[in-house]
Amino acid sequence: MKDLTPDRSTLEPIETASTDEIQALQLERMQWSLNHAYDNVAMYRKRFDEAGVHPDDLKSLPDLSKFPFTHKNDLRDYYPFGLFAVPRDQITRIHASSGTTGKATVVGYTKNDVDMWADMVARSMRASGTKPGDLVNIVYGYGLFTGGLGAHYGAEKLGCTVVPVSGGMTERQVTLIKDFKPSTIMVTPSYMLNILEQFHKMGIDPRDTSLEVAIFGAEPWTNSMRQEIEQAFDMHAVDIYGLSEVLGPGVANECVETKDGLHIWEDHFYPEIINPETGEPVPNGEMGELVFTTLTKEGLPMIRYRTRDLTRLLPGTARSMRRMEKIMGRADDMIILRGVNVFPTQIEELILENDTLAPHFQIELTKDGPMDKMDVKVERIPTASGAQDASSELKKRIKDTIGISVSIDLGEPGTIERSEGKARRVIDLRHKG
Ligand code: DLL
Repeated sequence: MKDLTPDRSTLEPIETASTDEIQALQLERMQWSLNHAYDNVAMYRKRFDEAGVHPDDLKSLPDLSKFPFTHKNDLRDYYPFGLFAVPRDQITRIHASSGTTGKATVVGYTKNDVDMWADMVARSMRASGTKPGDLVNIVYGYGLFTGGLGAHYGAEKLGCTVVPVSGGMTERQVTLIKDFKPSTIMVTPSYMLNILEQFHKMGIDPRDTSLEVAIFGAEPWTNSMRQEIEQAFDMHAVDIYGLSEVLGPGVANECVETKDGLHIWEDHFYPEIINPETGEPVPNGEMGELVFTTLTKEGLPMIRYRTRDLTRLLPGTARSMRRMEKIMGRADDMIILRGVNVFPTQIEELILENDTLAPHFQIELTKDGPMDKMDVKVERIPTASGAQDASSELKKRIKDTIGISVSIDLGEPGTIERSEGKARRVIDLRHKG
């Protein structure tokens, strides 16, 4: 793989600033953001008043913990535009996530917000090793989802040649990689596996492409998956994180030279980690729920927004800003099987250990009388023999490392649902029929 480490001289000064400088900027911006929310959004004014706090009470960064949390449900309750902090005609762009149940979550951006977003994606892409002048295929979905357009504006801002492919039409994805010769692809890791399969079907060696780096996000993925895909394509794979409520892609990104977790762009997003049950801050470096406060957003300021994503905070390395460890999973995706907590990422790691199993998987939950039952659906790779052994090996590894008994459903190649965006890892049939 090519060394893609960016030249330090191309970084923004804040990326290498001291902790003191970063914190001073954060405090100033946090005071602005709290006032902006309080003055312009009825919900925040009501919540702060009820909690007996006022933006003036924020004298230092830890004072933020006195302020109430914001939840996903708040966006639904104030659907569609009730949390916007500027008149609707100052909103330049709207995105929304459909969600599986209930009302869509609607988010809005002013012109300044769209510019800041593009800056954050450009910074993220630079950290990933993409340079001005590179050709970039954007395979995240375009439309109400923030992935496509969010990545698009950032790639343009960095000065790239942008190809807005969007998701789907997998054969065409391969053709466009072969013919346009991108250095960078921005896509979900699960869809990249789908594209990899298509390379094999078309008899094209994925290691021969022009791709130098894939910027993967929008869903959890493991370091084992990184190795699998880096090896298959002979390219780097780095992690990009974000969520619509806070921005979209570009809240945090890994650096290609270290790949040791994602630097949070703390000049715009202030992170906290809390105990998801009690809401209390956890001791430094411990795992918990990630909470964000936006520091500069005009259209939709978010104060202490509970992401439901589980991770831990780590000190800066390649950049001064703090890192978050790769997301372990969403609190909502945590499976509790007979008292043991399990995340799909843990299963992914164990599947990838096994050379005869393909990296595609799905977890099905059913009831066996009063007991919950977990079925891990996997496939053998097309060239593998002796996959039955792999199945019993996986069952044993899951029992030994996670401590749960599962059944393994080993299918023929191609039998598991393939993703074109975010993969559906868990199918919960426990409350059906
Ligand atoms: O998925 C934004 C995005 C687009 C990020 C493209 C990266 C690339 P939402 O649809 O609002 O926004 O979903 C946000 O997706 O709370 C996480 O649970 C999950 N997620 C996003 N990035 C990652 C990641 C976009 N790198 C939700 N690792 C978040 C793990 C991620 N989970």
